[in-house]
Amino acid sequence: MIYLDNAATSYQKPEAVYQAVQEVMHHMGNSGRGAHGASLDASRQIYSARELLAELFHAGDPSRVAFTANSTESLNMAVFGLFGPGDHVITTMLEHNSVLRPLYLLEEAGLELTILPADQNGCICYEDIEKAIRPNTKGIICTHASNLTGNMVDIGRIGRFCRKIGLLFVVDASQTAGVFDINMEEMGIDVLCFTGHKGLLGPQGTGGICVRQGVAVRPLIVGGSGVHSYSKAHPEDMPTALEAGTLNGHGIAGLYAALRYIQETGMEQI
Ligand SMILES: Cc1ncc(COP(=O)(O)O)c(C=O)c1O
Repeated sequence: MIYLDNAATSYQKPEAVYQAVQEVMHHMGNSGRGAHGASLDASRQIYSARELLAELFHAGDPSRVAFTANSTESLNMAVFGLFGPGDHVITTMLEHNSVLRPLYLLEEAGLELTILPADQNGCICYEDIEKAIRPNTKGIICTHASNLTGNMVDIGRIGRFCRKIGLLFVVDASQTAGVFDINMEEMGIDVLCFTGHKGLLGPQGTGGICVRQGVAVRPLIVGGSGVHSYSKAHPEDMPTALEAGTLNGHGIAGLYAALRYIQETGMEQI
């Protein structure tokens, strides 16, 4: 089959991804929920995937990478976990509903929102960003590439501007993770949201959020964590802070295999 809908999902995965998921289905335990071999194996496997993602995105410490089900979950975490009523947030007309709808919900509660326009060619005007800044501007959230037009945004330019004036910078890398270089450190990205099933070539139901050291994202959900079980509060340390409940260990094992494939083959070659 000739398949040309990779922006929706990468239908054809590397053979190693199918094999990895099938293999771990036979023996993977629940990561962080036991001290027996099957549980420890799961923790090791998941940690290895964190390491590869931290390396791929230059996210620093692998513990700053938390797994989610997809970009939508990560973006909801970022929006609700960083911004609130009274804050001003800047975004663009190029965004997916997984950015816009959480922002619209917060807008109803008192968030101030600026949506930068795109021109006829689908490009934003970078000078508009500076003009949109208000005293209460807390951050900018923007996609790396539009899923509708394919246009890319110069996130390094926006990130460096955010660093200079102390704004939070959140990037939706759904369309570019695994396809183009993303360097959180150099590009001034505070929070990077990605999905596993598109350019990263992993299974559906995998994704994540990378949070720069020093930035705290309030969790969307709390609950079982496998640690500090007698504490009333959910642990605040990353990645547990953003990983309440059992992870998709089987999917993450597949994502790990996909990341190895990308690393070994090279993004340009793919
Ligand atoms: C730019 C962009 N952001 C976010 C998403 C949401 O990704 P997911 O459905 O994996 O949560 C998509 C999916 O099409 C997308 O293209």
